[in-house]
Parts: sequence; structure tokens; C-alpha cells
Amino acid sequence: MNKHPAAMNYSDEEGSESEGLTPPFQTPKGMHDILPPDHEYHTYLKKIVRHRCRQAGFKRITTPILEYTEVFKRTIGEVTDIVSKEMYTFEDRKGRSLTLKPEGTASICRAYIQHGMQNLPQPVEFFYIEPHFRYERPQAGRYRQFWQFGFEVMGESDPALDAQAILLAYRIYGDLGIGDTLKLQINNIGDLNSRKIYTEALRDYYFGKERYLSEEDKQRLQKNPLRILDSKHEDTIILNQSAPKFKDFISKESQEFHDEVLEYLTDLGIPYEENETLVRGLDYYNQTVFEFWDGKKGAQNSVGGGGRYDGLMEILGGPATPAIGFAMGLERVIAQMKRNKVRVPSKDDLHVFVAQLGRQAKKTCLPLINELRDRGVKTMGALGKGAIKNQLKIADRFKVPYCVLIGLTEVREGTAIIRNMIKGSQKTVKMSEVVEEMVKAIGKNNLDFYDPKDPVNE
Ligand code: HAM
Repeated sequence: MNKHPAAMNYSDEEGSESEGLTPPFQTPKGMHDILPPDHEYHTYLKKIVRHRCRQAGFKRITTPILEYTEVFKRTIGEVTDIVSKEMYTFEDRKGRSLTLKPEGTASICRAYIQHGMQNLPQPVEFFYIEPHFRYERPQAGRYRQFWQFGFEVMGESDPALDAQAILLAYRIYGDLGIGDTLKLQINNIGDLNSRKIYTEALRDYYFGKERYLSEEDKQRLQKNPLRILDSKHEDTIILNQSAPKFKDFISKESQEFHDEVLEYLTDLGIPYEENETLVRGLDYYNQTVFEFWDGKKGAQNSVGGGGRYDGLMEILGGPATPAIGFAMGLERVIAQMKRNKVRVPSKDDLHVFVAQLGRQAKKTCLPLINELRDRGVKTMGALGKGAIKNQLKIADRFKVPYCVLIGLTEVREGTAIIRNMIKGSQKTVKMSEVVEEMVKAIGKNNLDFYDPKDPVNE
């Protein structure tokens, strides 16, 4: 990436409540500002995902930043980490419980039902790029506000759709230059019935072994023993090694569904690793679940994940609607791109810096800057009171190829100096010729135009 010239001035400090400024004058703990150098990555990412989604016929959707708490409680599951301890929940002035959305899928299902989208041709395919909120313990790659790009395919069930969803995610990682650095983990957690039988088998297995379980896992044993398989507690991890395996309980239909998904992946040339311990941290999944890992083991190394959620709509009171979806964390993707030295082509680099001296020069500068920008020349002007020397130092830091200098003499003579910052040469031209000279120097193909009539492509 062409680093933003002023990047050296930005510190990566996040809200830590320990250094620098004290609350409330720093970002809340676990949250971060997205400064210009990272915005280049965000913009690039959005461009790539929009392109891929557009190709696949997906439409963009945005739901409110918060929902009634019940939407998440019912779908993500009461015993999940997200619902039990990570939601930003508060009451509005009328005592209604609202929650900042910790993920996007439940809200989009709510929207699907609310707007009667079952009447549209199925499947309905959406994508979103939005901030989400989870009150997690902050650490590398784990934030309390983070961005996700995600998509949902709702209204049909077929192994080919699962493979297609994985393919889309895989292609996007590839476009971003990190496809080869990620490992696709995949599992099938079965249908409701086989999961019920399996859950009972797990209950029997842990019965009498409670003393080895942490308090948290004891609670999971009561409410949802499946989640014990996802435990991070050492003793439980050891206990889990001899726990009943789901492959002995999976129904014939689910096994066939899974085999078919894997067959498609093989045909598409997508490498995968079957992982029977992959259960995901949200309760709404059934059948296919998958994650992309950055190669190292551990939850925060999941750069994206998703799966099938055929029962979610009904939980929210909607019609039975099979669906599959996926989301990737933008911060984790960006970190992965940086680790792998992926450079982002930047359109932000300036072409021209206009420096001036004196009030009359400033009056000449303003229309000049305006006209240069109109002609597609990315222009910045020093409109403060600094000496020309200092203004040129700033121009140097922005690494502009050209400077236009207008001082007292130039105003008097109706001229301007064009300095080639790379060669160190300069020439005086008539004021009326500056714009043409600059357009020619920058080159037609490098000019930056925006046509409001261009087709909209969210
Ligand atoms: P998730 O696995 O909870 O799934 O999150 C998806 C991705 O969001 C993760 O793989 C990770 O990259 C990123 N992520 C999650 N939590 C954080 C965090 N605290 N800080 C930074 N990044 C984070 C879902 O959210 C599902 N809604 C995905 C889905 C869509 N399933 C079906 N459709």
C-alpha cells in the first residue's frame, strides 16, 4: 500500500483506559478509530465485496444499529457467550429493552419476515457491511466494536447453495490476496432431531463428571451440553477428547447432505479441512458450519465464519425458510492482509499542492484549487498563514508530484510557478495556463472524476 504520508503521525492507540488520555477523552475500551491509513483498506475491501456480490446478484441491506433484545436472545441462544455476557443492552425511555447488534443474521431474518420477503422470488440474497458490538475481553483482533461484511441466502436449501456460499467467501479472500493464507474448516452439526439425540448422549457422558467442569461448563450442561465441546477450560478440553462423537449420531440425510457439499467443494478446487469439533458460537445453526482460520488455532484467528440456519425464521415467528450465510471481520481481514504484506492500490494520493503568500495570492488560489479539482486533479491548498518554505515542507510530506506557488511577484505579474517536486525543477507560466499545464502533466488516465450519473452499485 502507498502509506498515507501523514501515517507516521498516527499512533495505533486503542481505548485501553491505561495510557495517554483518561476516559472519557479516549475511545471506549476495546473500540478504535479508523484512521485514514486503515480507511484505504476498508475502502478497498468494500470495493472487492461489492463487486463479487454484484456479480452474484446479491443486494445490499442495512438494518438499524440496534434491535429489540428479544431478537438476539431467541436466535443466538440464551446460553451463548454473546447473549449471556457480551451484549450492549439498555432500556429506552419507555422501558423497552434494546441491544446494539452483536451480529447481522438475526436482524436480517427479522427484516425478511417483517417485509414479507417470502413473497419474493427465492432465494433472497443480501449482503451487508456494518459495525457490530460485543462486550468481549479486548485482545488482538477482538474488539467491542468491529466491522463485518456478510451475506445471507434465504429461501432454499441445497448442498449446492452451501458450496456456492463458501465459494463466494473463498473468492473474496482470494481477491484480497489472503486466500492462500487461510484454512477452510468445515463440519456438519446435523438436523434438529439427531442433535437432540446427541445432546442426550453428551448429558449422559458428563453426568457424574461435573467436578471436572468449570462453573460455566456446568451451566452449559444444564442448558446446552453441545457448547461444552467449545469450552476453553483445560480440564474440560481433556474430558472432551473421550466424549461421544457426533459422527456416530448424524442422520443419513445430514451425512448425505454433507458429503454432497464436500463433493462440490472438491469439484470447485476449494481446499478444506473437516473439523468435527467446529460447533460455532451461535445456537441457530444446523447442518453445514464453516470457518476460515488464519492457520493458527484459536477462536480469535477465525477470519470469517458461517453456516446453515434453517430454523431461525420460525424461531422469530416467520414461515419455515431454509437459509445459509457467512460473515467476515474486517479488522481481522485487514490484519491478515498487513501480516502478508498485501498492498492496497490507493486513489487518495494527491497530484498538486498549491502554496501561496499574501492575501492577494490567497484570493487567486481559491478559484484555482476549485478549477483544478473540477478537472480531476487531486489538489490540496495551504490556505493558512505559514511561510512558503513551511508550506513546501508540508507538500513534501504529502509526496505530491507538483506544487503551484503563487507569491507577491506572481500575483503582480499574473503568473504562477509550477515546481516538479520529483525532478526539483520549476518554471513560470501564465496564471491562465496553470490548469491546462497541470491536467497535461498528470495525464488523462490519472485524473479523478466522479460522475453523479454513473450507475449506482451498492
Ligand atoms: P461470527 O463467527 O460470530 O458469526 O462472526 C463472524 C466473524 O466476525 C468472525 O469470524 C470474526 O472475523 C469477526 N468477529 C467476531 N467477533 C469479533 C470481535 N469481537 N472483534 C473482531 N472481529 C470479530 C456471525 O456473526 C454470523 N452472523 C455469521 C453468519 C452469517 N452466519 C450466517 N450468516
